[in-house]
Amino acid sequence: MAKPRALVTGASSGIGTAFAEQLAAAGHDLVVVARREDRLRQLADRLTREQGANVIVEVADLASAAELDRLVAVVTDLELDLLVNNAGFGAYRPFLKLDPTRAEELIRVQVLAPTLLARAALPGMVERGHGALVNVASALAFSGGIKGPWMPARATYAATKSYLVTFTQILSAELEGTGVQAQVLCPPTTATEFHDIQGIDVSRVERMSATEVVRASLAALSRGEVICLPALADPGLISDWTAASTRLLRG
Ligand SMILES: NC(=O)c1ccc[n+]([C@@H]2O[C@H](COP(=O)([O-])OP(=O)(O)OC[C@H]3O[C@@H](n4cnc5c(N)ncnc54)[C@H](OP(=O)(O)O)[C@@H]3O)[C@@H](O)[C@H]2O)c1
Repeated sequence: MAKPRALVTGASSGIGTAFAEQLAAAGHDLVVVARREDRLRQLADRLTREQGANVIVEVADLASAAELDRLVAVVTDLELDLLVNNAGFGAYRPFLKLDPTRAEELIRVQVLAPTLLARAALPGMVERGHGALVNVASALAFSGGIKGPWMPARATYAATKSYLVTFTQILSAELEGTGVQAQVLCPPTTATEFHDIQGIDVSRVERMSATEVVRASLAALSRGEVICLPALADPGLISDWTAASTRLLRG
């Protein structure tokens, strides 16, 4: 029998690598996407050797319209069981100091790419009656109302992640009864290259490991949870938040 196949964007490091590792260990074949080909090839060789996974490497810069179009065409032609939209980067800067091209890249990588890849993958999943989508957002998606010098400057970054929360919640309702699930994963601060790349020292901040974050996401997927906040001690807060939004809209 053919193995299930998952595509993971941003698989060359951090949370994406952890997704690839845990999915391969759970018996998936993989398509791994990122810009750093050497990292992807090393990962593919390792997962083939250690887990017997068939791994396709797709080198793509998701900020490039042409490269995203090419990947969308690849996804349209693949029978995917799981799509993990994980690629992302921080660019923590006050909005007026954020280079406009960098703001555009944030929106391309963290809004446009997940949307178009989901649009390409979901019709086949719905037709086959099973499959899942995981969009990797951030706990900062919920940070719009929080002010404080301890918070990173994040207007565009956090807003792209809020888009993924709203998009996934509503999409998940649209997918009810199709056998296809959608989850938005909202990690807390996680020990990956994410902050190093920005030159931010988070050594004194409590961080989850990428392995733990992905373990929480896959467990939540098996329970059919739409919003996964791995560090949340009280899961009732998510339903409180949903109920408050309903009251706000009705009011
Ligand atoms: N670490 C945290 O504290 C944290 C917290 C909340 C949410 N997140 C989210 O988690 C996701 C994964 O981040 P991480 O923490 O694992 O960081 P990471 O270690 O820096 O990994 C980011 C991944 O995204 C890929 N990527 C970045 N820009 C890309 C582009 N233009 N095209 C294609 N791939 C691109 C990178 O690959 P290449 O450089 O090889 O292209 C890399 O594989 C991101 O969406 C991030 O926003 C992270």
